[in-house]
Amino acid sequence: MFLFIFLLLYDRISADIALCPLDFYHEQFAERVEPEREEPTTGLTIHDILPEDPKKYDKMRPPKKDGQPTKVYFHVTVMGLDSIDEGSMTYAADIFFAQTWKDHRLRLPENMTSEYRLLEVDWLKNMWRPDSFFKNAKSVTFQTMTIPNHYMWLYKDKTILYMVKLTLRLSCAMNFMIYPHDTQECKLQMESLSHTTDDMIFQWDPDVPLVVDENIELPQLALVHNHTADCTQVYSTGNFTCLEVVFELKRRLGYYLFHTYIPTCLIVIMSWVSFWIKPEAAPARVTLGVTSLLTLSTQHAKSQASLPPVSYLKAVDAFMSVCTIFVFMALMEYCLVNIVLGDSDLPKPPQPAKKPDSIFDMAAKENSFLLTGAPKIPVVTPAQRARNRAINIDRFSRIFFPLLFTVLNGTYWIMFAEYI
Ligand SMILES: *[C@@H]1O[C@H](CO)[C@@H](O)[C@H](O)[C@H]1NC(C)=O
Ligand SMILES: *[C@@H]1O[C@H](CO)[C@@H](O)[C@H](O)[C@H]1NC(C)=O
Ligand SMILES: *[C@@H]1O[C@H](CO)[C@@H](O)[C@H](O)[C@H]1NC(C)=O
Repeated sequence: MFLFIFLLLYDRISADIALCPLDFYHEQFAERVEPEREEPTTGLTIHDILPEDPKKYDKMRPPKKDGQPTKVYFHVTVMGLDSIDEGSMTYAADIFFAQTWKDHRLRLPENMTSEYRLLEVDWLKNMWRPDSFFKNAKSVTFQTMTIPNHYMWLYKDKTILYMVKLTLRLSCAMNFMIYPHDTQECKLQMESLSHTTDDMIFQWDPDVPLVVDENIELPQLALVHNHTADCTQVYSTGNFTCLEVVFELKRRLGYYLFHTYIPTCLIVIMSWVSFWIKPEAAPARVTLGVTSLLTLSTQHAKSQASLPPVSYLKAVDAFMSVCTIFVFMALMEYCLVNIVLGDSDLPKPPQPAKKPDSIFDMAAKENSFLLTGAPKIPVVTPAQRARNRAINIDRFSRIFFPLLFTVLNGTYWIMFAEYI
């Protein structure tokens, strides 16, 4: 009886196992896949695309079809521009760099149904490839996360596309003659390392040579223009093909207007307050002049903190120098006022002596009323005359300094108006 039950159970268990849904699925799948196995999905090796006789393929020789130099088409997508450093005259760019060339010596691996096929990038080591390099790059970073950032496509017509993403640190010769009204031209140059124009020429992609991200935002500069150009160089060894992207970067004046020009003008105007302070107040007027001068020199140093110490005169230097001269002249004006006033300091003591005199005799005052005009003559003492002269110098300065400063400021802004 037990044996019978056991046999019955065993039967059912084995039946269950046989009807396992996974097995069922596998059977179904195998049946469905079977007819498609005819399509060649075998892995491709480098030998499938190189000529059958590897001796016939020289990877150092460009594919010069009909003796014509090989044309390599370039495309550059600029994703970012940043870290423009005036001190080291460099900038950084993030780019997608694509090179396309046709190698007629290659074999197509199979009847390609799709437009292109992805190839292993390592194969480039065994194939001919353009030897472009970034001519003005100080460093090039190739990113490997999460996978190495490059790929290769093989098109139906034996055209190979090699695309790579790079972060470049490029040098850019900058001229600060009209800083901060300057526009800098920064380039990205790609030249052939070893092939002359007889063997290979670079050309910009006829359809889309250059794409620059519209959202590029730089703190002090604005990207105003970008274009592609040819920079083929003539060396003693021959002509070497070269292409370049030119970025025109214009300095935004806003920062300098609010951090340099307006504060500097205010300091100069502040130094003129001295002309309205009475000539005897030496501590007040000297302090004002010296403080203005010190503040201005701090401003001047700050205005070029980010710049390399260039030996020529920059526009901002000219402006700052004129302002410094103005503040200095305001200080010197007080010096002149003081000299004119200086002699009058000695006869001053007699003046207080006069007061008790007037208090002393009221009758004398009555007399003076009678002799109208007579007592007024001694009032204009040499000291008084000197003081009047000093005040006249101040009065003249009150008009002359602002006027001259306005004229010079106007000249400066008219001169640089075309660069704004
Ligand atoms: C490849 O294409 C040729 C002609 O177009 C055809 O004769 C041949 O059968 C195709 N081969 C395969 C494997 O599809
Ligand atoms: C770059 O140049 C192209 C064509 O000259 C222009 O359409 C595009 O707006 C420019 N991009 C920038 C960011 O200036
Ligand atoms: C190089 O270019 C110059 C002019 O651009 C041309 O006169 C010269 O013949 C070229 N040399 C070679 C070797 O192609």
